[in-house]
Amino acid sequence: MEATEAAVLASACELRRTVRTFDASPLSSEAREPLETLASHDENPYGIPIDLRLIDAEAYGATSRVIRGTNWYVVGSLSRRAHAEEAFGYVVERLILAATSHGLGTAWLAGTIDRPAFERVAEVDENRITPAVIAVGTPAARMSALERVMRSKLHADERAPWNALVFRGDFAHPMSSPDELDPALATALTCVRAAPSAQNLQPWRLVCSDGRIDLFEHRTLPLRPIGDVQLVDMGIAMLHLEAGLAQQGMCGTWSFDGPRAGAGYPDPSLTYVATISF
Ligand SMILES: Cc1cc2nc3c(=O)[nH]c(=O)nc-3n(C[C@H](O)[C@H](O)[C@H](O)COP(=O)(O)O)c2cc1C
Repeated sequence: MEATEAAVLASACELRRTVRTFDASPLSSEAREPLETLASHDENPYGIPIDLRLIDAEAYGATSRVIRGTNWYVVGSLSRRAHAEEAFGYVVERLILAATSHGLGTAWLAGTIDRPAFERVAEVDENRITPAVIAVGTPAARMSALERVMRSKLHADERAPWNALVFRGDFAHPMSSPDELDPALATALTCVRAAPSAQNLQPWRLVCSDGRIDLFEHRTLPLRPIGDVQLVDMGIAMLHLEAGLAQQGMCGTWSFDGPRAGAGYPDPSLTYVATISF
């Protein structure tokens, strides 16, 4: 990721929150244009092509019961294959952070949508999946009562403590505070901590060693064979980690060859996902 884009995306990590209440204004062509351009950028560490498009969902009768004040959604699909969800999370989160930098609000939606209607829009068949859709628009000045209740129930403004998420060398050595890290690395990891996740479960675990971070998934929801949301969360975390590191001048490369020898992960709920080297 080049430095200019990383700076934009990493700054947006701090600004972004899920927006469920929009101001009901039509999405201007100036706002639509960058989104449409971004939707055509599907580069991802897995090399899986993804079709994304911006739609006015009203025309298709597709809605979400938690969204107020916008009919605009980013809808897409990709082939049903290993790592599709991580690739989708990575590509769509890049679009979300760029949209945030343009002053737009967004919401990842996997559960609270009229799924059959959105799948028809995305032209999903037995070979393709649409793991989630994204509501997009101008945030309203005030949240709906429903949104306030949802944020409170999800503890959406909170994140797990550092020692639950970040480890030095192996899982036996949790880091209790960012002060234990090199400041540039701590800033990069702050981007990951701020990431959105389904039900705010934050499944990412990061084991830091010299010049590399091994990323693991901590599974708490049942694995869905198609369109698993916690794997989408892992793709989102990969994008935040890559952008956060690149903003700090650490341009990372992804690999998938297993964790550093000795990283050790005795807990069966932990699965290795990827390594970034920098
Ligand atoms: C893959 C994924 C699926 C999500 N699905 C929904 C959903 O169906 N409905 C909803 O209201 N929020 C959904 N969210 C938003 C999360 O609840 C939200 O990210 C989390 O509570 C943290 O809040 P924040 O994004 O404001 O930081 C989803 C988020 C992700 C990443």
